[in-house]
Amino acid sequence: MSATTKEPYLLNIDEEASKRLNLQHDIITRMLGGKFIPKPVVERLQSLQGTSRSMSYDWPACKQVKYLKIADLATGTGIWLYSIRKELEELDLKAELHGYDLHDNQFPPVNKREDVDFHTLNILDTPKFQEIGPTYHYIHARLLTSVLTKEEWRVAIDNCLEILRPGGFLHFEEIPFGELSIEQDGAPASGGVLEKLQASMKLLKRDLDCGNNIYNYLEELELWETEHHKIDLRACDEETKQMQNVNSRLGLEEFVTNAIARGPEALKRLGFESKEAALERVAGLGKAPGTQAYFVLHSILGRKPGGSFQMQLSSSALSYSDGSEEANDEPEESPDHTPNAAISRTGPQLQAAETEEPQLSFIVPRRGRYQVSYTVTENLDKK
Ligand SMILES: C[S@@+](CC[C@H](N)C(=O)[O-])C[C@H]1O[C@@H](n2cnc3c(N)ncnc32)[C@H](O)[C@@H]1O
Repeated sequence: MSATTKEPYLLNIDEEASKRLNLQHDIITRMLGGKFIPKPVVERLQSLQGTSRSMSYDWPACKQVKYLKIADLATGTGIWLYSIRKELEELDLKAELHGYDLHDNQFPPVNKREDVDFHTLNILDTPKFQEIGPTYHYIHARLLTSVLTKEEWRVAIDNCLEILRPGGFLHFEEIPFGELSIEQDGAPASGGVLEKLQASMKLLKRDLDCGNNIYNYLEELELWETEHHKIDLRACDEETKQMQNVNSRLGLEEFVTNAIARGPEALKRLGFESKEAALERVAGLGKAPGTQAYFVLHSILGRKPGGSFQMQLSSSALSYSDGSEEANDEPEESPDHTPNAAISRTGPQLQAAETEEPQLSFIVPRRGRYQVSYTVTENLDKK
């Protein structure tokens, strides 16, 4: 199924919007304590890269360091990718980082992208995802609440699964619009502007409760290791809360100036009599002492079934044509079991990718005295 977002985007995608997204990112960074990659994902990536290193034993084609593949969809400026790049470095994980977005106008200039790749891609364009195929070990998408309807969320999630390798993690971070608030002493204090934004989103069928709905859909799809964490700004420190006050004002200003740009009819539909009235309302936002903007950050995780197998490694002495056998030396490395092994096969006879169901047994070509064979003893993921 393929679909395209035809509805207007109520917020902007220009330089000002990039600045607001960077501020939003700084707030999220504080809420996450500077760690962007959830622990189960880190463990999975470590196991994949560690396994591939240990399996490089005397197999020249495997000696190159294997790069993990990570994609951020609707990446905007790519700020999340640049942040995890640091985290991956600290973890000694090597990864190719790919950012995708419907628009390329927030991508960094080509000469400043460093080792991050950027591509345009509509998250709803199913045939394109099918063309890419299962490529990524970890896929992340963030802050799409103002973009997708509930039905489109399902298409987007299905598409993400198309390009995720079996055993890979899917990770969404959302700030549902339904949980945004601006309060003073517990009472609404946005002068009605926030409520107008929420009503507009509802009219455009955006999913105001996307955090819970994404999690429910991942459960429905029977993904493994699903997790749903919610972090409420109410529990954060004062400085973070002040940052959100600025952020919410910028967001609402953007919403109103966007409506102004769409013309008087758009303003009227929102209940603003004129451009001046709308600007006046925005100018007063958050000015009253004790006014505080809140939101809840939802982090939702799920793992695509498949991808981990236990293998038994065995070796046997090779016979030579003169009838001699050389079995004096042990091979340099010969583990009996390789638990949670992701199978990496790049040799000419073994072309399946690590994430596909491996052959039940196969022999590794070896130049020395030993012939090594692997036997898949069980699929750990199916436990
Ligand atoms: C609120 S921004 C979030 C950017 C980024 N994820 C972040 O956290 O900084 C929403 C992004 O979604 C992108 N977008 C909107 N519709 C899209 C679609 N159908 N497919 C892919 N990206 C889309 C916009 O271009 C914008 O960059």
